[in-house]
Amino acid sequence: MPGWIWWLLGLIAVLFALKAVYLVSTALSLPATKGAMFVTTSRTRIRAFLEAVPLGPGQLLMDLGCGDGRVLRAARRQYGVRAVGVEINPLPYLLARLLAWGRDGIEVRRASFWTLDLGPADVVTCYLFPDVMARLAEKLAAELRPGARVVSFNFPLPGWRPERVLAPDSSRHGDPIYIYRWPRALTGAD
Ligand SMILES: C[S@@+](CC[C@H](N)C(=O)[O-])C[C@H]1O[C@@H](n2cnc3c(N)ncnc32)[C@H](O)[C@@H]1O
Repeated sequence: MPGWIWWLLGLIAVLFALKAVYLVSTALSLPATKGAMFVTTSRTRIRAFLEAVPLGPGQLLMDLGCGDGRVLRAARRQYGVRAVGVEINPLPYLLARLLAWGRDGIEVRRASFWTLDLGPADVVTCYLFPDVMARLAEKLAAELRPGARVVSFNFPLPGWRPERVLAPDSSRHGDPIYIYRWPRALTGAD
């Protein structure tokens, strides 16, 4: 058999193994994630949110279900914020740790965000799943401090009124990005 066929078979085996790792890792974390799988937010959408939500150096951003940590790294790079990400799925958690290696100001924890105290956050970001948004709205309402903002990619917080809704202009990136300010989102006043 020609050598290139061995290379091709090797490549297919590696891709197959990566897919298997993704599936096993996702299946193991499914009871905790309730369907919010590891899918990354595009750079276009992260750029749009960072432009709409200016932050100051030293402010704290928390990403609930941080995936490979790209939101953390982009916010740290652009504004010098402290960035904390929580991820339950072992595969994206390891990726996020690896990609944050040697960078100051970024912390990635393997945990469920339901155990995280959101009180210190200036901005909370998430890209989750409709099934968890009502429970998340309750947690945010119980823990956020006045003035904190919440950015939810794709799915709204039920009952909350967004300050802004972004729809980055392209069919691939056009799902809404909801931006809320607490407690105005619920009470209409700061
Ligand atoms: C759609 S991905 C978004 C990843 C990243 N925030 C981004 O925007 O690129 C959602 C992530 O949330 C994680 N996740 C879901 N429920 C979680 C929970 N209860 N605790 C921690 N992570 C969770 C999933 O494992 C998944 O990686």
